[in-house]
Amino acid sequence: MLTASQIIEKYIEFFEKRGHTRISNSPLIPQNDPTTLFTSSGMQPLVPFFLGEEHPQGKKLVNVQNCFRAQDIDEVGDNRHTTFFRMLGNWSLGDYFKKEQINWYWEFLTKAIGLSPEKLYVSVFEGYKNIPRDNESEEIWTEILKKEGFSPKEKIYFYGADKNWWSRAGLPEAMPKGEPGGPDSEVFYDFGTVHDKKFGEECNPNCQCGRFLEIGNSVFMEYQKTEDGFKPLPNKNVDFGGGLERLLAAIENQADIFKTSLFSPIVSEIEKTTGKSYKENVKAIRIIVDHLIASVFISGSGVTPSNKEQGYVLRRLLRRAIRYGKQLGATEIFTAKIASAIIDNYSDSDPQIIDSKKTIMELFTEEEKKFNQVIQEGLKVSKDIISNLTPIEPEKYSKLMQDPDKSELFRNIYRGKNTNLIKEIDLPKSAISGATISGPQAFDLYQSSGFPIEMVIELAQDQRLLVDIESFEKKLKKHQEQSRIGGAKKFQGGLADHSDKTVMGHTATHLLHQALRDVLGDKVFQTGSNITSERIRFDFSYDRKLTDEEILEVEEIVNEKIEQNLSVHFEIMTLSKAKEIGAIGLFDEKYENDVKIYFVGDYSKEFCGGPHVEFTGKLKRFKIIKQENIGHGQRRIYASVGAL
Ligand code: SER
Repeated sequence: MLTASQIIEKYIEFFEKRGHTRISNSPLIPQNDPTTLFTSSGMQPLVPFFLGEEHPQGKKLVNVQNCFRAQDIDEVGDNRHTTFFRMLGNWSLGDYFKKEQINWYWEFLTKAIGLSPEKLYVSVFEGYKNIPRDNESEEIWTEILKKEGFSPKEKIYFYGADKNWWSRAGLPEAMPKGEPGGPDSEVFYDFGTVHDKKFGEECNPNCQCGRFLEIGNSVFMEYQKTEDGFKPLPNKNVDFGGGLERLLAAIENQADIFKTSLFSPIVSEIEKTTGKSYKENVKAIRIIVDHLIASVFISGSGVTPSNKEQGYVLRRLLRRAIRYGKQLGATEIFTAKIASAIIDNYSDSDPQIIDSKKTIMELFTEEEKKFNQVIQEGLKVSKDIISNLTPIEPEKYSKLMQDPDKSELFRNIYRGKNTNLIKEIDLPKSAISGATISGPQAFDLYQSSGFPIEMVIELAQDQRLLVDIESFEKKLKKHQEQSRIGGAKKFQGGLADHSDKTVMGHTATHLLHQALRDVLGDKVFQTGSNITSERIRFDFSYDRKLTDEEILEVEEIVNEKIEQNLSVHFEIMTLSKAKEIGAIGLFDEKYENDVKIYFVGDYSKEFCGGPHVEFTGKLKRFKIIKQENIGHGQRRIYASVGAL
């Protein structure tokens, strides 16, 4: 049976044979894309090219992309969801379209990796508001399925925009102006398991009962959102993405992806470390596996746990995994051990992760120690809270705990309802309030020291106390809504905004990069950047604070280049030529022959996808706002550009 790495090889080979060029796996932390903290699909780094920029590798591309989806954290625990996954992707930038894509993917599934056509089902866009039904895809599928001897009616399902429309922002109405999107067609694998009516009367490919698994999504990216609805893009593009972990599950006919050959060695390591079996602790072990794999790859990208942005997500993943580990009885520092098993397991498809093994293991250990401290502190504060409360009498408490629907019972208690059980055990309101850790108290513990609510509940239960979860959740929801509003604002200001200001920011970073090298030496190289219409953020390797004079000098050089009104243009050349002419930038191009180099006059030559301004005069004025140390020998500069 094929392993995960062999599926990757087969897929790349299949599309290379059909004229595609393999492009590299982009960094998990996006460069030059402020719209999101992580790369969450293979197409994300390609957005400028869908909108019409020329890609140096041509119009037919293929790759495997490491992806992370923070929004799926709470879904992890079932048989299929993970936050980190590898996405197989092939793209047509205005080259082939629906006919080739649908036929090729079918051929790949049924011939190259040998899935049984019997097991496959497909979905097609049924239309939404003014956007028409995708009749063309239906016809192509009908022809294929008839040839295979199936009745298309039984195999093709139609869905609306919630299932068969794809854009980075989701539904058509949620897309910001400028964003590309289009209808899609998905393929599903049928494990043939019995339908669970909890998920609806009838089963269908998009049902969540676990019978069907989506194993590939062909997006026909043909529209762009504008002021007045959708207009066709200059090029009709294909954006295909398929989850490697899911294809493996289909090949192994294993409905639980955590039991596939990719994950089972990691599951075994957790069973060994905690002494608990997967069978009896499915949810906890799935969460630990997923969160630690994601943490390995995020920290392998240079992120360290913190209270901001990617660092915050990493901290949350690690701490959640640690908490579940403790619940399973892990008493010692255990995450580094699991990390080591993960890295070994992924080393053949992601060999670069081995170089970071030691750093990752140290970082996990350090965070686990820190979290243990948080727990100790949380315990201290909780002790003070608890000492002011009066436990419920043992028999009464145990009756409460035996209720089959405890969570509903407790909600009723806090809503002040006098349930039958409360009457039966004769528990007066005063006894309830005297034994309750209030929502605000639990939220403060969570907010100030990161002490998780689940631990507050465990503690309370040990002491025969109650926790007002309903009011805790209300506070938490309010807090999350505020963060979401912040996130949405960020999206609006993002790349879809190929706004003048953002484009100016891109060109300014090239000047800044070169100017830093002029002033501080060639040791300086870019490690990251994030540009919004408000500001430029630029990270680079350097091990000390810049002096005021150095900052001034860098600013002066950049402003001088702006005043010279240098012209900006790009050339496509081989990687070796680019290196030969001394081009700088974040090259990570194992598989690519040709690269795109932007020239700013003869001052800067840098590897970049664009877009840029045509003349530097457009930047008007450049100013450094502040500098920061971001650890690991790296510094961060914030700057602004434009009429100041
Ligand atoms: N962009 C689509 C997805 O992420 C297909 O690549 O599912």
